[in-house]
Amino acid sequence: MIVLALESSCDETAAAVTDGRVVLAEAVRSQVDLHRLYGGVVPEIASRAHLEAVDALASEVLRGAGVTLGRLGGIAVTQGPGLMGALLVAMGFAKGLALASGLPATGVNHVKAHALAPFLVEAALYARPGAGVTAGGTEPEGGAGTEREAGAGTEREAWAGTEPEGGAGAAAGTAPEAGAVSGGRSGTAGGDGPEARAASAGGASSGASSGARSRPGALRPPRFPLAALVASGGHTSLFLMEDFLTFRTLGRTLDDAAGEAFDKSAKLMGLGYPGGAVIERMAERGDPSAYRISRPMMKGGFDFSFSGLKTRVADLYRAHGMDGLPDGAKELCDLAASFQAAAVDVMSAKLASAVSSTGAEGAVLAGGVAANGALRRAASEACAGLGVPLYVPKPSWCADNAAMIGFLGSLQLERGINPLALSAEAKTRWNVECPA
Ligand code: KG4
Ligand code: ZN
Repeated sequence: MIVLALESSCDETAAAVTDGRVVLAEAVRSQVDLHRLYGGVVPEIASRAHLEAVDALASEVLRGAGVTLGRLGGIAVTQGPGLMGALLVAMGFAKGLALASGLPATGVNHVKAHALAPFLVEAALYARPGAGVTAGGTEPEGGAGTEREAGAGTEREAWAGTEPEGGAGAAAGTAPEAGAVSGGRSGTAGGDGPEARAASAGGASSGASSGARSRPGALRPPRFPLAALVASGGHTSLFLMEDFLTFRTLGRTLDDAAGEAFDKSAKLMGLGYPGGAVIERMAERGDPSAYRISRPMMKGGFDFSFSGLKTRVADLYRAHGMDGLPDGAKELCDLAASFQAAAVDVMSAKLASAVSSTGAEGAVLAGGVAANGALRRAASEACAGLGVPLYVPKPSWCADNAAMIGFLGSLQLERGINPLALSAEAKTRWNVECPA
């Protein structure tokens, strides 16, 4: 089903046209520059910027996908969780468009959608629009995919294919835009991290060494259940996914989100906003064992606590007289590396523990923090050790985007889940267990 998807829950306005998990067009307008001055997201500024962008972005992706409203099966929009004023913008737009066009609309849970991001695939890899050729330039030798036009397949067809028996994991090509990867039942740890991204599109991963690569669009769905860690600036939770729609919460942060800990630590160290990517860059040049930072709640089940990490960073920063040090100073790099190592250890250990204690068939790592190379590597190694595949989105799909909203939205629309009534309210909080 072809869906127009809209997202405005925090500080990115995003629109996409998706066909199942196939992304036909997408656009994201980040507000980071507007909020940087304040060192964090200012809700009123966010709402106004969403309002200015949403209409143009929706038109842009429809044009980009070469799709008119008449070709759409429905509209998907983030209904929560997020900032109330920000959520209302895309929801109001979606309701108005649904009313005017007669299209069905559905409200999507943003956090659940993050966990589906590893399974998205670019239309260019799936098939070139209108050209009737096999998946764009990256078709591996001997690729056994059937030919398909973008937009022609349903979500089910997008998964169907010629992959040999053996589950999600037969293929791992070198598609540059491809999503996910790493360690599979074969124990082969695939490359991962922003640079390598050496995986089959859509996240079907692992067992990559055989050279038996198949067309990215022709991969099987993953085996469920999956243990999923969604870590971003607003949320950090561990879930058990029974399928793409059915989630159970295993644990969540009791205070700060993981991304918030990166952002606040960076701010304390005078490194700017947002902090995740800056800390990662500094950490690459630092010694992760330079400062002792304990791993919070390592043995505390599946809940997280990150606020102590930030306090420890502040204490070390003061105790070692780092104020006034030039950017890139060794001490700052060491502190960034020590902080990152602690955060990464906790997240990767809890994800691995969720896999082993639930008997999950694989793991998902998603949300803005999943762009972190050290975390991707640690999770990849942990999953390889357990012999299960890890599914990670490409970095731009770790961050907020509308493609993930479109994929989950199409599954809901097909099943009549959570139709968006004109009276539907935005939800600042929304448990994944609730319907939709
Ligand atoms: O998913 P996202 O774009 O928005 C929310 O829903 O919150 O996540 C943004 C968060 C920010 O806190 C940002 O610092 C963090 O993700 N982040 C990272 C990295 N890139 C973004 N954290 C650690 N390492 C990174 N490379
Ligand atoms: Zn998010």
